[in-house]
Amino acid sequence: MKTHALQALGGVVGAAIVVLLGWVGWIWHESRLPDTYNVMDYGSHDYGGGDVPASGHHAGISVADLRGPRAGAADAKFTLTARTESIRLASGRQVEALTFDGISPGPELRVQQGDLVEVTLLNDDIPQGVTIHWHGVDVPNAEDGVAGVTQNAVPPGQRYVYRFRAEQVGTFWYHSHQVSSREVRRGLFGAFVIEPTRSTYGLDLALAAHTFDGVATLNANDGFQSRRVSPGTRVRLRLLNTDGTPRRFTVQGTRFLVLALDGTDLNEPSPIENETLEVAGGGRVDIAFTVPRTPIWISIAETEVGLALNAGGLTRPLADSSDEFDPAGYGKPAETPLGASSRFDRRFELTIGHRPGFLDGRPGLQWTINGGIFPHVPVFVVEEGDLVHVTIANDTDAVHPMHLHGHHVRVLSRDGVPVSGSPWWADTLNVEAGERYEVAFRADNPGIWMDHCHNLRHAADGLTMHVMYAGVATPFKIGDAANNEPE
Ligand code: C2O
Ligand code: CU
Repeated sequence: MKTHALQALGGVVGAAIVVLLGWVGWIWHESRLPDTYNVMDYGSHDYGGGDVPASGHHAGISVADLRGPRAGAADAKFTLTARTESIRLASGRQVEALTFDGISPGPELRVQQGDLVEVTLLNDDIPQGVTIHWHGVDVPNAEDGVAGVTQNAVPPGQRYVYRFRAEQVGTFWYHSHQVSSREVRRGLFGAFVIEPTRSTYGLDLALAAHTFDGVATLNANDGFQSRRVSPGTRVRLRLLNTDGTPRRFTVQGTRFLVLALDGTDLNEPSPIENETLEVAGGGRVDIAFTVPRTPIWISIAETEVGLALNAGGLTRPLADSSDEFDPAGYGKPAETPLGASSRFDRRFELTIGHRPGFLDGRPGLQWTINGGIFPHVPVFVVEEGDLVHVTIANDTDAVHPMHLHGHHVRVLSRDGVPVSGSPWWADTLNVEAGERYEVAFRADNPGIWMDHCHNLRHAADGLTMHVMYAGVATPFKIGDAANNEPE
């Protein structure tokens, strides 16, 4: 009797193990990505409660045809050559970097609003290939520089020409979107500034914070760079964070205005002081002040890295314990065509989670979007002209700077509290652990657009999805065999 019972139990346990292994094996198998695949074949189409676009309705627009103006003389023309180069930080430290034109950050590109911009990318020697994405510039889809979605990565010895009209004004940046988690970290990026036709600043600087080999830098300087500027000069500083995690900046010695976030001017900013500015990974904050007779320090918080104006040999005072700048209540409200009371055509949920599972066959703790592990993530399908509402919730204990390509979103609320100051437009929104944002955008730029975390390591680990316009298809493919690896 006893042995019978044991045998039976053994049989049940054995069968359970077989079922469990089979189930895990199936999940593993399901998670694997083919050698090449089209982004359109993955994910589950989510229509946000709106109309399901009739198939065939203006179908057959290829991403490859959604180009900027191909004809006409460019107003601003650049060539950027990507190559491996060792660069030297101010302290003398050498970094084996990937560079545009031999430097990192690459050349600061400045154009004027309305310019037809033409940039030729040459890849000298970067074996895995290169592209250029114009982060925050809402370019036509084929100029967006995403390997395997809007173009093929440019192999060594080849080139690609980007042409687009600079319609916005503000602070943006460019970076490779091929193996971006490695290429951007190693230096393939630069500042891209679109100036208004008349600028009133005596000094206008873009300052990119970046970590090279674990060392914090500002424009590749790992110490304080000092400048003399005549008192009375109007200064505009464009603070960029090209890392994946948030950076905080302090401003000591002057009151200042926060002029713009993510390349979009704020309405009626008022002077503040002793407020720390947090810049999302990939985000930008523009500030302005008039130079006083006394010194000013702009520093990366908790580092000895920054910019000192008229400081001579003076050492920086200890930072005042300061408040965190909050864009949600800064500046004055203004009318915009898109707000909380708009009639939305689609409402999407984008909930970020973290759980054990397989990503492309690898076991581990994985990021999830609406519960699914990449590629089992949603695709937000929209139609041109739609007003789109997205609720972004972060159910993890990490911060995720969420970046939508090709559009700016208006931030409507955070944790249920409506934005009360200036209209706040973002392209890279720092979503802290446990936070929940409501944002809105107008679908006015047809294409297939990445929507991902700009902690590019997270993106490579599956925190990536797409916003897809109905009827648009891409001929490009992602995967090893295609040599396109956007993240
Ligand atoms: Cu800064 Cu998907 O990009
Ligand atoms: Cu993230």
